[in-house]
Amino acid sequence: MLTNKTVVLGITGSIAAYKAAELASFLTKSGADVETVMTESAQKFILPLTLRSLTHRPVVCDMWSPPENFSITHVALAQAADVIVIAPATANIIAKMAYGLADDILSSIVLATKAPVIVASAMNNNMYENPATQENLARLKERGFLIVEPEIGHLACDAIGKGRLADINTIISAINMVLGRAGDMAGKKVVVTAGGTREPIDPVRFIGNRSSGKMGYALAEAARERGADVTLISAAQLSKPFGMSVIYVESASQMLDAVKQSVYNADALVMAAAVADFRSKITSENKIKKDSLVLNMELERTPDILSEVKGDFLRIGFAAETEHLLDNARKKLADKTLDLIVANDVTTQGSGFGTDTNKVTLISRGGKEIDLPLMAKRDVADRVWDWVVANIDIA
Ligand code: C5P
Repeated sequence: MLTNKTVVLGITGSIAAYKAAELASFLTKSGADVETVMTESAQKFILPLTLRSLTHRPVVCDMWSPPENFSITHVALAQAADVIVIAPATANIIAKMAYGLADDILSSIVLATKAPVIVASAMNNNMYENPATQENLARLKERGFLIVEPEIGHLACDAIGKGRLADINTIISAINMVLGRAGDMAGKKVVVTAGGTREPIDPVRFIGNRSSGKMGYALAEAARERGADVTLISAAQLSKPFGMSVIYVESASQMLDAVKQSVYNADALVMAAAVADFRSKITSENKIKKDSLVLNMELERTPDILSEVKGDFLRIGFAAETEHLLDNARKKLADKTLDLIVANDVTTQGSGFGTDTNKVTLISRGGKEIDLPLMAKRDVADRVWDWVVANIDIA
């Protein structure tokens, strides 16, 4: 995604400026051409030399003395940018951009560009919450700037509040999302489920399974980076991925409700979640005491979400199996009248629950089978979406 993309990285004068070095390093290693632009106050916090060394490129520090051998003017940099990322962005640069000021190199580039601009703010919590800053951010948002909100945490001024620069991974997700906006899933709406449901027995205990949610999250992130509008329904307690709607659920019936609500106008539903097949028939309001716990707990079936939710969209299931993988998967494909099933041998080393890799076979309604080698879950996700893109018309 980042290869040969020109990322203009604007750094402004916040103590979080040092974190921009890590961002610049990651972007450069990922193949992007990173053009760093630093405001005067940013240079008090971090040296241009640091960025120059990490990006292997000259760093633009002011309007009037561009570095030697650097021929592009601020307008040319504005034009060359595939994306502009301002991280960290202070209240000052946010105010300048909101009002169209161009009194330094960074604000001039922003005013002169047609590229998307990502603003990752970082400042004291009172400065952030000040109505002036909030109004300026709202103005930028309205104009199409992508705002990456700061996090709540311990701030350099010793306050605890909202103002800490977002995690670098969140900023990278925002960049990938912006670069993928015109991807092959642009305009498509997908719903993905992830994680293992928990079926309550009492307020303390539940029936659960070993699903980590990693496959579902990889699917959701991959779709977002190909331009799709993604709703992630998660039974895993993982942090909220950037740039998608996330509905956190616990039980199979909550997941069913969330799926039903979300599939309106969808192009594909991918059920990567490991939904519990059984739940306790009775759920106790209070913790069941050890001496009163009956040995034979009565179970009942949970709703089969894939079988219940049908419509004008591709329906894709996962079959996590420990034996007779392909036969079981083919049977599920037929029983649930799916368009595709992802057969997943959870006994293979490096495949299945909790790992970052997976070994799967894609089996489609027409009987075509694609046996994929062990690969990163993120790559499996892209192969599933490749199939979706190629088969979108059969829904
Ligand atoms: O029937 P089984 O659980 O083996 O099928 C697995 C596939 O069906 C997965 O895609 C899973 O998300 C989905 N499923 C479902 N509702 C259930 C159980 C599984 O949608 N109650």
